[in-house]
Amino acid sequence: MIDQIAGILSNIGLETVAGTVQDSLIPLAILAIGSALTGGLPLLTSPLFEFSLNKVFILSLFFLHPQNPTVYFALGSILAGAALRRMISGREFWRYMVTGITMVALLKYAPALYQRFQPGVQDQVAIVSVLPVLIFIEIIINAAFLKKGSDFTMLSGVVLISYIAAIPLSIMSLIMVTNEGIPGAVLAFAGLTGFSFLGRSINRKHVWNTQRIREISSQDRLATRLMESSSYGEFLAILQGNLFKHSGSSIRALTKSSGSFDWVLWSPDEQFGLDESSINGTFPAKGEFTGNFIANNIYGTALGLSEARDMIILFSGPEQNILQSMPGSLLENLVLLLDHTWEAVGHSLRSERSFLAAAVTLARLADSKDDYTHGHSLRVAGLSCSLGRSLHLSPENIQILRVAAILHDIGKLAIPAAILTKRGLLTRKEREIVEAHPVEGARIVSGLSGYEEVTRIIRSHHERLDGKGYPDGLCNGDIPFMARIVAVADTYDAITSDRSYHSISASESALEAIRKETGSKFDSRIVSALEAILSNETVSMA
Ligand SMILES: [Fe+2]
Repeated sequence: MIDQIAGILSNIGLETVAGTVQDSLIPLAILAIGSALTGGLPLLTSPLFEFSLNKVFILSLFFLHPQNPTVYFALGSILAGAALRRMISGREFWRYMVTGITMVALLKYAPALYQRFQPGVQDQVAIVSVLPVLIFIEIIINAAFLKKGSDFTMLSGVVLISYIAAIPLSIMSLIMVTNEGIPGAVLAFAGLTGFSFLGRSINRKHVWNTQRIREISSQDRLATRLMESSSYGEFLAILQGNLFKHSGSSIRALTKSSGSFDWVLWSPDEQFGLDESSINGTFPAKGEFTGNFIANNIYGTALGLSEARDMIILFSGPEQNILQSMPGSLLENLVLLLDHTWEAVGHSLRSERSFLAAAVTLARLADSKDDYTHGHSLRVAGLSCSLGRSLHLSPENIQILRVAAILHDIGKLAIPAAILTKRGLLTRKEREIVEAHPVEGARIVSGLSGYEEVTRIIRSHHERLDGKGYPDGLCNGDIPFMARIVAVADTYDAITSDRSYHSISASESALEAIRKETGSKFDSRIVSALEAILSNETVSMA
């Protein structure tokens, strides 16, 4: 029966298909199509790795039956599946196809050519011998499709590593398929797909981080623009224009009023006094949001900006769900940014606002010198102000604290980026340079009259209560209280943002590390205030 079918198929010119009935090529071909459809093996962080899983199958097929024409049937399946997937995703179709077809052609003809010069060499040995040529040509093809400005050294490394991964994997899957047949193929497929998904999730995390950094930088630019607005109306108009694409979406703010009304509702072009009765919905705490919030018949999602629940931003219209789709850390940054900038607009002196705007821009510059500290200064400022408020500092002092915390690492502008981003231990000389940043920062700000307190805080934010800090080795009460606040906030943020995600355990371990140094490095009153703030957050998260 099988022979008859094979005969019919060969009669109509499909000899290549007929051959598959007799050997283990069927499981391999199924496996290959599956691999092409689920998408290659994007190991580590490069999309170039995606070809590797298919490489595994192409190599397996050639090792198995170098001379069998049915190999080309299986390869056709791989390429067709891959082309289909690439067409759907619309990415790099031509680079993929040219690499695939060239590779197959080379695998077919290069070993034969090699055998002409070295007669009697086994097929499999010939394939392995021509692999270096294959790798070289693949690097050339990829380079030809490479976007301008991409890194050629990285690309060559990626292609090489993908072969190093592909060769043992192909030999393994080959052994499984030849020994176990279809069950072996299923097992190999499961293992390789799992491997592929692992690679993909790593890849996605990388892409997400890059995107996050880009978005945070654009948020900092937004901060500068927001702070320069001369009224709350202008503030809301700028925010609306930046966050929303749809003209039907709008942003309003609701703040507690000290006048004859309970609340003030601000919109880009007007403001109303509102009584409690015209508001319907739960006021969210800082960083939280509540849907179905209604104020003066305006329906939307409310974002809380203060722990006291007396300030919210109301998003309405078709894009009001923007908050739900925002990753947690981005939302956190947005809340900090809006909190700082709204308060800055409230300050009547335009010069002060411009100063804050410039401060944020400078802090952004200092942060961007170090890969790991994006958004660090604004977060430290947010936490410092919360600490300051819970320690009952006056509004004037909170404002000083805010500026000092935003600018605390400004001295890093004077440190070469190569030292700031260096992995591993610093030499003594390098450490001295890094430890000069509080002095440098103070020097940068010291020229501004009226910012003497800010200058002192910046200079002393790395001092320790036991006198072992730098640059002056001050003890206990000699260290400005607000500098001690910045020190705690700085350490807390450095530990929690050391991970690519925020979790309760990260904040727990940061708190644990800070507790250990209470009394020797940190002020116990400030640590208690931090504990209180964090336990409030945990309660409100539960
Ligand atoms: Fe610092």
